[in-house]
Amino acid sequence: MTAKLFSPITLRNVEFRNRLWVSPMCQYSAAARDGMPGDWHLAHYAGMARGGAGLVIVEATGVLPEGRISPECLGLWNDEQAEAFARIAELVHAAGAKAAVQLGHAGRKGSTWPMLPGEPDGSVPLDQGGWETVAPSALAFGEYEEPRALTAAGVREIIAGFVAAARRAASAGFDAVEVHGAHGYLGHQFLSPLSNRRTDEYGGDLRSRARFLTEIVAGIRDELPELPVLVRLSATDWVEGGLTPEDVRQTAEWLREAGADLIDVSSGANTPRAAIPVGPAYQAPLAAVVREAGLPVASVGLITEPTQAESLLTLGAADAVCVGREWLRNPYLGLHWAKALRADVEALRPQQVWRAF
Ligand SMILES: Cc1cc2nc3c(=O)[nH]c(=O)nc-3n(C[C@H](O)[C@H](O)[C@H](O)COP(=O)(O)O)c2cc1C
Repeated sequence: MTAKLFSPITLRNVEFRNRLWVSPMCQYSAAARDGMPGDWHLAHYAGMARGGAGLVIVEATGVLPEGRISPECLGLWNDEQAEAFARIAELVHAAGAKAAVQLGHAGRKGSTWPMLPGEPDGSVPLDQGGWETVAPSALAFGEYEEPRALTAAGVREIIAGFVAAARRAASAGFDAVEVHGAHGYLGHQFLSPLSNRRTDEYGGDLRSRARFLTEIVAGIRDELPELPVLVRLSATDWVEGGLTPEDVRQTAEWLREAGADLIDVSSGANTPRAAIPVGPAYQAPLAAVVREAGLPVASVGLITEPTQAESLLTLGAADAVCVGREWLRNPYLGLHWAKALRADVEALRPQQVWRAF
């Protein structure tokens, strides 16, 4: 019997050849600070597609210039960027994988230094290429600069930015988009009571705090009826008074109704105060809760062994797994894991590396 990890999965009309996916990971490598992917991005993403991934999710990409995490992050706010992204989709497709891009807005966690060796921590000053950040409420994250609270009109402009970026991703040949609603970035800032104190339609009870995300998904669904839309959520804030898995299961139900196809279940990062019980596959129980919303989910977080990934699928905790750092250690991860689970390596393997597998 073929391992479930290497069996296909279909979202809308798009079939992914397997369920071992590349988790989005910032590369902080748009050196000219123009949001443009370059040689590093091409080689990096193509490499993991050649390594057997079913879906490669390109890193958090700003839907607007102020939506980037660092000045070196990617963007999809103009057509020139979309043209450069098209090369990534092309190379990923040539290796038999599907391509998605994670669309994000960093909100109060934007304008920070790249998380690379030798870089400082904290906010980038305005005179060094930083920008004024925005958020649901004027509440700073830790030591970062205090953001400006968005007006309702400002919120709608950002939602429109997500829809426009999704359109560019689709025109660049991407098979899916992932809306970033996790890790303390803007979607999470709206959803969590820790960072949203608004009293208009985008704040208050859970339904209103979820509206920013549901309007993004509904907006993309309206314009691009065929495009699979994934949403990454933090399924708990890991602190008293923050989001709970039950809040996030409910939110996933609303997102499903708005047209989302899969929830990619992560956790935390909206407060520096949280104590997170990190361990092997520690977020898988959260994925199982969110899955009760009635749509497929992906699990992510310290999934480092093929049998562990396979068990999460066969036990029904998740429908796909996103793997991050293990792909960075080993871009041929999919071929190794296929071999370990006695799946069809030949079907995945580029001809050129046949003598190694
Ligand atoms: C270098 C690096 C960059 C990351 N960038 C992103 C990102 O752009 N978007 C995101 O949702 N998560 C990001 N993450 C989190 C990963 O996608 C993943 O959820 C996390 O690393 C846990 O999975 P792992 O244990 O398999 O690495 C990043 C992680 C790393 C190590």
